Amino acid sequence: MIRAIEFFSGIGAFSQAARNSSVEVIAAFDQSEAANETFALNYQLRPKSKNLDSISEQEIESADIWWMSPPCTPFSVRGKQLDQHDARAKSFLNLIEKIPKKMPQAILIENVAAFQQSQVHAFLRHSLIKCGYHLNEVSMCSTQFGVPMRRRRYFMIASNKPFVLIDPEPIPTSPVSSFLQESLTELILDDQIINKYGDGFDIVSEGDLHGTLICFTKEYARCMKASGTILRMSDNRLRRISPSEILRLLGFQNNFVFPQRIDLPTQWKLVGNSVDVRAIKHLLKQVTSVVDCGEG
Ligand SMILES: C[S@@+](CC[C@H](N)C(=O)[O-])C[C@H]1O[C@@H](n2cnc3c(N)ncnc32)[C@H](O)[C@@H]1O
Repeated sequence: MIRAIEFFSGIGAFSQAARNSSVEVIAAFDQSEAANETFALNYQLRPKSKNLDSISEQEIESADIWWMSPPCTPFSVRGKQLDQHDARAKSFLNLIEKIPKKMPQAILIENVAAFQQSQVHAFLRHSLIKCGYHLNEVSMCSTQFGVPMRRRRYFMIASNKPFVLIDPEPIPTSPVSSFLQESLTELILDDQIINKYGDGFDIVSEGDLHGTLICFTKEYARCMKASGTILRMSDNRLRRISPSEILRLLGFQNNFVFPQRIDLPTQWKLVGNSVDVRAIKHLLKQVTSVVDCGEG
């Protein structure tokens, strides 16, 4: 098996993508207890609850592949774009510094599109090229996988052997209704919220065959503007899309579960932070052809 480490593991989009493949996730790291509990319930592994700002080389086991989806806030156009000066970039900068000492055969990175214009991106590229890695960089959106949801993200594969990354095959888009499953009353928006924030809603109707949802962010539970689409049900009431439905849109298997103590707002936060599983599968399929087992 090819051994991988999932850094910033969250709810484990990478572990989800690696299921039934030649890749085994041997370690995962995240500082969020809610994320780690959820991860442990769904995979046969408990992530290490570790602040990656200060992880040392000795604390990182040898592996063939590193997956990293660090916090996007330092780069996001929704944030202050403090880039390398943002305290939340420290963990990623620390891991970049560990690469020359560990030299995994391949490193996969995900972030928001704006990351590509950042100083951290320039530092990452410089460091990887200096180590002799070949770089493939690509922007992919969930819509390319037939999903009616915009979630465009930047991905990089750095590998010790060169290869040319091919684009995903175009897939016809499924309607939003094929991803819906919930009728929880907690999802329905009351008149007070609609009157206060309704003008800023992005709304898609349940029966709209060509509707596209906007990207669900970790703010979906509390911010009502541009943080995710609101659904107009067939009886005209408005509701949020549930965390389980967002998981389906992201390509997680239907048997993914949350621990009972994780409330709905926390579930939204966790899924809003996650990654399109199909995009990772697309990258993994190609990179595993140039990775040798057990050389990490
Ligand atoms: C963008 S999310 C990645 C989510 C993940 N890829 C998934 O599939 O859910 C970033 C994750 O990094 C974690 N994180 C942020 N800063 C961290 C740090 N300094 N040390 C460890 N984990 C950190 C957060 O708790 C969050 O789960």
